[in-house]
Amino acid sequence: MIHTIEWRNGAVVMIDQRLLPSQEVYRVYRDYRAVARAIKDMVIRGAPAIGVAAAFGIALGMQRPRRQPDKAFDHICRTFAATRPTAVNLFWAIERMRRCFAACKAKEPTRLSRRLLDEALAIHREDIAANRALGLYGARLVPKKARIMTHCNAGALATAGYGTALGVIRAAREAGKSITVLATETRPFLQGARLTAWELKKERIPTTLITDSMAGHFMKQGQISCVVVGADRIAANGDVANKIGTYSLAVLAKRHGIPFFVAAPTSTIDLTCADGDHIPIENRDPHEVTHIGDQAIAPKGVAVANPAFDVTPHELISAIITEHGVARTPYTRRLLKLCKATSAGSKVRPH
Ligand code: MRU
Repeated sequence: MIHTIEWRNGAVVMIDQRLLPSQEVYRVYRDYRAVARAIKDMVIRGAPAIGVAAAFGIALGMQRPRRQPDKAFDHICRTFAATRPTAVNLFWAIERMRRCFAACKAKEPTRLSRRLLDEALAIHREDIAANRALGLYGARLVPKKARIMTHCNAGALATAGYGTALGVIRAAREAGKSITVLATETRPFLQGARLTAWELKKERIPTTLITDSMAGHFMKQGQISCVVVGADRIAANGDVANKIGTYSLAVLAKRHGIPFFVAAPTSTIDLTCADGDHIPIENRDPHEVTHIGDQAIAPKGVAVANPAFDVTPHELISAIITEHGVARTPYTRRLLKLCKATSAGSKVRPH
């Protein structure tokens, strides 16, 4: 089990994902501002994982009594909301912490801080349960012998544990299927090369690393059974924002008749977003494109674009796999139903 993020002895502990795969360093955070900084700086990344980090960070910020709790709480929530714009799980987790605060703010300070911590711990626990459940739904879509292409890192490192896209891969393997993986390196931040390859190698799941530009070649050769990716935000109509390069893979998959699956918990679905055009796309530092680590790979001063995510239109997606079941086109009604199952408090049903 990879420990991405945990609450330990009154502190938030996270593996520093910027240093993987060469170093496994766990950092201990006792100040909420440092947790927010860690999200911004990619110590922790991946939509569900940053939601969990925000929840723990908010709980951490409220562990000591405040003279003006309402004001302090609101300030802490705003600090986290300003870290990264695209993954909706972050805002979903903040909203859940806000509801918890509103329900408990009349309690005496130690009970209030305990309730906020319990809520954050529940978000952490439920994310792992959701990933295991969606993994089982997803595994049914995977052939007995399959070569699965995945992009970026939608694994244990991107969640509280087990992963979404890699959750499907793990569950398929646990079901006795013969699975091999083709992982794209995912320029510019190299989540595929550094994180997905590290996770899968640790579990001895046979994995071949390719550069992003090799994807079409392997699809054309008939070597890919399906593509499985995660998501940062799913609009009400089924359009999906995910790591830059996802859209190109979906177009290629369509061209080659390869099923293209998105695996995500319902906390990634944003019903307030009608379609993908309304999803805010984060633009990151040009340095990520012009350098690999500290090594410059482009002439100084060249113009650079660095959108961190793109939007895949729903018509390119074969299915969206959640903890409450699988949605297929037409997505609007089905996604609404799956979200209702969550708000009705349906327990995840791992079969
Ligand atoms: O910029 P990142 O590394 O946070 O982007 C992560 C992704 O795009 C993942 O595919 C997505 O968050 C799903 S993670 C289960």
